[in-house]
Parts: sequence; structure tokens; C-alpha cells
Amino acid sequence: MIDTEEQLARALEAVAGAADLKALDDVRVGWMGKKGHITDLMKSMGSLTAEERPVMGQKVNDLKRAVAASIEDRKTALADDALREKLLAETVDVTLAGTGQQSGGLHPVTQTIERITSLFGQLGFTVAEGPEIENDFYNFEALNIPAHHPARAMHDTFYFGDGKLLRTHTSSVQIRHMQNNGAPCRVLSPGRVYRCDSDQTHTPMFHQVEGLYIDKHVSFSDLMGHLEQFLKLFFDQGDMEVRFRPSYFPFTEPSTEVDVRAPGGKWVEVLGSGLVHPNVLRAVGVDPNEFQGYAFGLGVERLAMMRYGADDLRVFFENDVRFLSQFR
Ligand code: PHE
Repeated sequence: MIDTEEQLARALEAVAGAADLKALDDVRVGWMGKKGHITDLMKSMGSLTAEERPVMGQKVNDLKRAVAASIEDRKTALADDALREKLLAETVDVTLAGTGQQSGGLHPVTQTIERITSLFGQLGFTVAEGPEIENDFYNFEALNIPAHHPARAMHDTFYFGDGKLLRTHTSSVQIRHMQNNGAPCRVLSPGRVYRCDSDQTHTPMFHQVEGLYIDKHVSFSDLMGHLEQFLKLFFDQGDMEVRFRPSYFPFTEPSTEVDVRAPGGKWVEVLGSGLVHPNVLRAVGVDPNEFQGYAFGLGVERLAMMRYGADDLRVFFENDVRFLSQFR
């Protein structure tokens, strides 16, 4: 009879000697396959006697089970080795520099508007917006600028030809707000305005913030105090020089333009303001004998240019990332 002990020893040696999964599979085919040694052993049992056969059958089955088990164990070990090698080869070097992800930021015009609305927010002002496409009434008529008034020439208006126009200032929102809410009120109206004008300090579209404060006892000294304080806070400069210069707007009386002293010593105009004209209050049904107040309009880009030291207004609209990324 064949010595299955010896067979097993040979098989285990072959399994242990298989260096990789491929070699191990060859061993498996050689022993367990259709033409493998164990199959041969089974076939050769035909020549055994009736007593020998069950004894031998038992031994061959044991051999078969032992060989299969050793192949499985070796397979697991080889797979573990392969995985370990693969993981080592693929190790991530966490000290390498990353590709980096740039974070976005708000546009400087938006940041400036937010700064303005938050400073006036401390005085109880809330934000009210209005449409950019307006009609004559809101942009001119109700603001005490009747047809043929010479002040219209100051505005370089874009007309649509059907009575509609692009608002030339945010003062139109004063009218809409008081029409809807009456007095008293404290509102700020930021937004785009349009004028047919273009050079280094003028663009056909720019931003204004309108302020309107109407109540029973609002005076010119409130206007001066609020605006001076605002400008000092806006520029983070407590000793900033602020100058109120007499001026003219049809919708305010008296009117003033406000200048600040720029770093080079030059006075720069930053806003227009005045006490709201009684005709404007009448146009929206507010009794000027009961209520009065101030209004102002400021140029957002003008303030942003001064605060950030930009010398060309157009950089705010070119969307050059090299410029914008400085405001992240
Ligand atoms: N609307 C004026 C302008 O665009 C500014 C202004 C607003 C002046 C409110 C006085 C009061 O120039």
C-alpha cells in the first residue's frame, strides 16, 4: 500500500515552498486537480482488496483534507504578505505639500456696503431696496426735480424711451419707502445706479448707499454728527478731518457735500446730503410740519477706493482675480 504519511509530507513541503499565489495554485492543481496525485491515488484503489480498500479510502480522504487545509492556510498567508507589500509600496507621504484649495471671498464693493450698513445699523437704520429700472416720478419728479428742471442735466440719464429709465441715484428708494411706510423712518438703501459717464473715476454703473432719517426732531446737527462719526468709524481714523461744504440738491434744503481729508492732504468729496425738502415729504404724503429729517447719498466705490488705496475705479468691475484675491 502507498504511504500516505509520506505523500502528505511531500505535499506540505510543496505548499510551503510555493513563493506566491500563482505557484501555490500550481501545487493545488498538481495535488487536488483532475489529473493530480490524489486523483491518481483514488483511481489506483481499484486494484486493492476488499479489506484494504476502506482503510486506504479513509487514509486518502484524510490526506486530501490535510492538503486542502494546508493550501488554504498558505493562501491566506500569501495574500496577507501581498497586501502588506502593496500597502507599504503605496504609503502616502503626508509631509508632501498639498495641491491647495483657494477660498473665495466677498467682492470689495459688497464688503464696503456691509461695512456701511452695519455702522448705520448701530444707529437703528435698516436696509430697504428698490428697483434699478425706474420711472420719471421716483427718480426725478417726486424728488422735487420737475420736467425741464436744470438739475436733470447733471444726471446723464439712460432712458428706455417708454418713460422708463435706469435710476441715476438711490434717492428714488426714499420715495418708495416713505410711500409704503410713511414716517418716522431710518433706512439705508444700497444698490446700483447708472449714469452715461466713463473715465478713470466714473463708470456707467456704480453703487450708492442712500440714507434717510425722518422723525419729529431730526436736525442739521444730527446730520453732521452722524455723518462725521460714520466717516471716522468707516476709515478707522478717529482724527480724520471732515468738511461740510454748502451745496445744492433739489430734494434737500439746506444741502451739503461732505469731504474728507485724504492721506496726501487733498480734500475728497465722499457724499451729498441735506435736510429733506418739504416738497419731497409732501409728495409722499408726509406732513413737513410734523416730520423732518436728513438724507444722504454716498458713492460706495469712492469710499472703497479711499479705504483700500485704489486709484482707478474700474478695477472694481474688471474681476481680475489678482485684484480681488487681496480682499479675501
Ligand atoms: N442723490 C444724490 C446724488 O446722487 C446724493 C444725495 C442723496 C444728496 C441724498 C442729498 C441727499 O448725487
